Amino acid sequence: MSTNKMWGGRFEAGPAAIMREITPSIDFDKRLAAEDLAGSRAHCRMLANEGIISKDDGAAILEGLAKIEKELAEGSFIFKRELEDIHLNIEARLAELIGPAAGRLHTARSRNDQVVTDFRLWVRAACDRADSGLLALQRALLAQAEKHVETIMPGFTHMQVAQPVTFGHHMLAYVEMFGRDRGRFEDARKRLNESPLGAAALAGTSFTIDRDNTAHALGFARPMRNSMDAISARDFALEYLAACTIAAVHLSRLAGELVQWSTPMFGFVKLSDAFTTGSSIMPQKRNPDAAELVRGKTGRVLGDFVALATVVKGLVLTYGTDLQEDKERVFDAADTLELCLAAMAAMTADLTAQPERMRAACEPGFPTATDLADWVVRVLKKPFREAHHIAGSIVKSAEEKGVTLDKLPLADMQKIEPAITAEVFKVLSPEASVHSRMSLGGTAPARVKEQLAHWKGVLR
Ligand code: ARG
Repeated sequence: MSTNKMWGGRFEAGPAAIMREITPSIDFDKRLAAEDLAGSRAHCRMLANEGIISKDDGAAILEGLAKIEKELAEGSFIFKRELEDIHLNIEARLAELIGPAAGRLHTARSRNDQVVTDFRLWVRAACDRADSGLLALQRALLAQAEKHVETIMPGFTHMQVAQPVTFGHHMLAYVEMFGRDRGRFEDARKRLNESPLGAAALAGTSFTIDRDNTAHALGFARPMRNSMDAISARDFALEYLAACTIAAVHLSRLAGELVQWSTPMFGFVKLSDAFTTGSSIMPQKRNPDAAELVRGKTGRVLGDFVALATVVKGLVLTYGTDLQEDKERVFDAADTLELCLAAMAAMTADLTAQPERMRAACEPGFPTATDLADWVVRVLKKPFREAHHIAGSIVKSAEEKGVTLDKLPLADMQKIEPAITAEVFKVLSPEASVHSRMSLGGTAPARVKEQLAHWKGVLR
């Protein structure tokens, strides 16, 4: 191979074969093509407006870029590895199409500000896609919550039956989490939305460019203040990856619950045939593959964050080709997150809750023991610690008899605490327990309906 025609002026010999393997990024940064065209258009118009290039050259460049856009859309654009990356591929094609005027486009610009401009635009759009994916999932969860405001299930701590809750309440817990995830993408988007274009190689340029103009043309709020920061910074990508990671972690918790709930032992939810797979050996199986894959893919998103953080760590200002490693991590995290969000939204919409199984699971484990202790506090005016002790002894006696608390004869309770009256039975059913938890944010259907109303307003 001869020297690179885009930068080979001072070179006599071409690169070693291995350089042709390690250098190119075109195989993945072709995904920045649309952003690269947008950046080039904005830059070209500004150059022509400022009289840095002639109007005619500006017009020719824009025409050439439009042709390239068409070729890209039609799939006829030929990507060449010897042209390294998307920037040089597009510029070289522009030269083929319009001749020497193409060479004026790179005035007052470097691939360093070009790539990071493209990348910010790409990550900005990815933040918006994450937001819509999360929104769709929230809506699916909300629809389930709406159906199950009164559906009683055991709430767990330590994986042990703790207190009765409603399935609607449980679904809305995830709506909250994914709502915060959306907030993280929104914050990241706001912070990243500044234009690095015009920082040139690192120090700015001697041409009288108008950075406000290009920033606004690309929908950025303003140009970045410091050209060296503009070239070096990748915290926008890290922030995006951190938001992806936290969202993926939340997805994995919901996925984990679906895996558990859909087992025959739990049977809390049923996934349709469309969302389960069979086993090649065990005919009875209905495996929740998609949920397991969502859970399993969390590691890769975190891995993407860790990989890029490690690339940036200790990297001196400003640009180092190390930074070329930023894109694949972000693309992978974005693809993974978007896939998982879509799968979870679809599974959430698909699942059918099984209220009888959920209610039956409230029978063992004495989930209303706290209600008993609370009754002793409220009616018998005992300190909570003493009431806890009394309730514990009553649980023990019910356990010995093999009955639930609401089926234990009053006489047995009175053996432990003589002041207990039949009134106590009013609080011992899971239904009574759930309806009594009226504190703000509690599981009482009236409170869950308030949460529901809030989210219906927000997600409309
Ligand atoms: N392909 C490069 C990247 O992804 C573009 C910037 C190259 N700049 C340079 N001076 N080699 O980061």
